[in-house]
Order: sequence, then C-alpha cells, then structure tokens
Amino acid sequence: MIKQAIIPLAGLGTRLLPITSVLPKELLPINGKPALEYILDECVDAGIKEFIFVISSKKMMIKKYFYNDLFFKKILKEKKNKDLKSKYLKIKKLKKMIKFVYQNTPRGTGDAVLKCKKLIKSKHFLMLLPDDLIIKKNCSNSMIRLHKKYKSSVIASKRVRAKDVSRWGIFKIKKFSRNNFLIKDVVEKPTANLAPSKYAVIGRYILPTKIFKILKNQKPGKNGEIHITDAIKKLIYNKEKFIGHIFAGKYLDCGTMNGYINSTLEISRS
Ligand code: G1P
Repeated sequence: MIKQAIIPLAGLGTRLLPITSVLPKELLPINGKPALEYILDECVDAGIKEFIFVISSKKMMIKKYFYNDLFFKKILKEKKNKDLKSKYLKIKKLKKMIKFVYQNTPRGTGDAVLKCKKLIKSKHFLMLLPDDLIIKKNCSNSMIRLHKKYKSSVIASKRVRAKDVSRWGIFKIKKFSRNNFLIKDVVEKPTANLAPSKYAVIGRYILPTKIFKILKNQKPGKNGEIHITDAIKKLIYNKEKFIGHIFAGKYLDCGTMNGYINSTLEISRS
C-alpha cells in the first residue's frame, strides 16, 4: 500500500527569481491557493496518509504556513469568517500529516529522497516534484492503481517536442498499452541526438525502498547533483520493473515564470 509521499522542497527556485529570493515558489498562489496545496490535495485524494517534506533553513516559510495556529485563532476569534475557518481547518488537518526533513545544501532530488530513508515504512513510496502540477485527472491515483496491478514501480510520463528533450529526463520505452510502457532505460536531460524517445519523466514517481541503497553510494551526476534519474537507471539495469504511465490529466509547469503565469490562467479557467 502506498501511504507515504516524499516532496522535495529545498530547491532554490532560480528559474523563478527574483520572487524566489524571498518567497518559496511552492507558496506562490494559484487562484488563491499555494501551488503546493494542489499537490497535497492530489495526494490526499489518492489515499496518501503521510507527507515527508524535504525543506531547508531558507524555506522555513513552508513550515510556518502549516504552523500558524496562534495567528489564525486570534483572527478567527475577532472575525467569525466561515470561509477562513474552513481554510484554516484544512491546513490544520494537513499539518498533522506532515513530517519535516532538512536538506540544507541543495544536492539534488536523489539526495533529498535519501534523507527520508528512516521515515519510510513500506516497500514502495510516492515522490512528487512540486513544480509539476497535473490537473483534471488524479495522476497519483492512476499510478497507485497501476502499481497494485503490476506490482511494479511507476513513473509519470508525457510526450514532449524533440527540441525540448534536453529539459527533461527521457525514457527508452517498450509500449504495452495505449497509455503505459515498460521503461527500458532513462537518461537525465539528454541532447536531442542522444534522446532514446520523446517520452519525458514528469514529477510523479512510485519508487521501491531498494533505491536508498543505490542512492547511498551514488556519485554526483549532471551539474554535480545526485539525480533520482541515475538511481532509477541503475535499478532498471538490476532488473527492477518500472512502468511509465502517460497520464490523462493536463500538465502545468510551475517551475518557470511563463509556466507559472500559464498555470494560473489555466486553473482559473477550469
Ligand atoms: C527534474 C528531473 C527530470 C524530470 C523533471 C520533471 O528536473 O530531474 O528528470 O524530467 O524534473 O519536471 P528539474 O525540473 O528539477 O530540472
């Protein structure tokens, strides 16, 4: 059963500067709600019971968002605002589900996941990258169903344009149904001539705890970071079964300014 989700939140958000020099990108509002809460809602809806947030001392504002009870209680005492009360109660409920782990040097997604090792209780867990919003259909839910059916690890995927492959992790695939494929290999941000397909890694992963052992011994890869992609590659070479799932929902990229602006427009329209 997948009941725990790791969310790496220690990234510097350089693609969204200057705003991220003071405000964590995950708290930027989309239609009145922080981007991060869309991810949490997706998870809760998919049956997740515990979140592990990997934050850094620079991103304590994320913790504060969930730990501001005194402030809310004071305001709610003065103003009997039903809408605010229900929003506060939701945050309070989420707070009880969150554990915090610290990654003060941004050494990559693989390093962030490794930091959660001691907290993971079952053989597989979900990991979500907060830049990647998927709306209209619950991607985590579909992936958990696939995991149960095939007893395998699962990663979300989307077909991208040939000229954009170097922005993503790219899969080598063997399709076995319209929306699912076996992952034969994965390469982090390849140049167009080295990309094994046009199917990109999108930030939803169901991973086995076996990955911790690999991450522990993993040397830094591209740009000196410990990439989760490199650890997944090794697991695939060790014959671990990984399925790629071409999700049905709409993908919104919240990691760049253009993407963020577009996400706010798309969500307010939907
Ligand atoms: C990360 C992963 C990459 C994946 C992407 C999805 O890259 O390393 O494999 O395709 O997320 O958003 P980042 O966005 O951190 O550069």
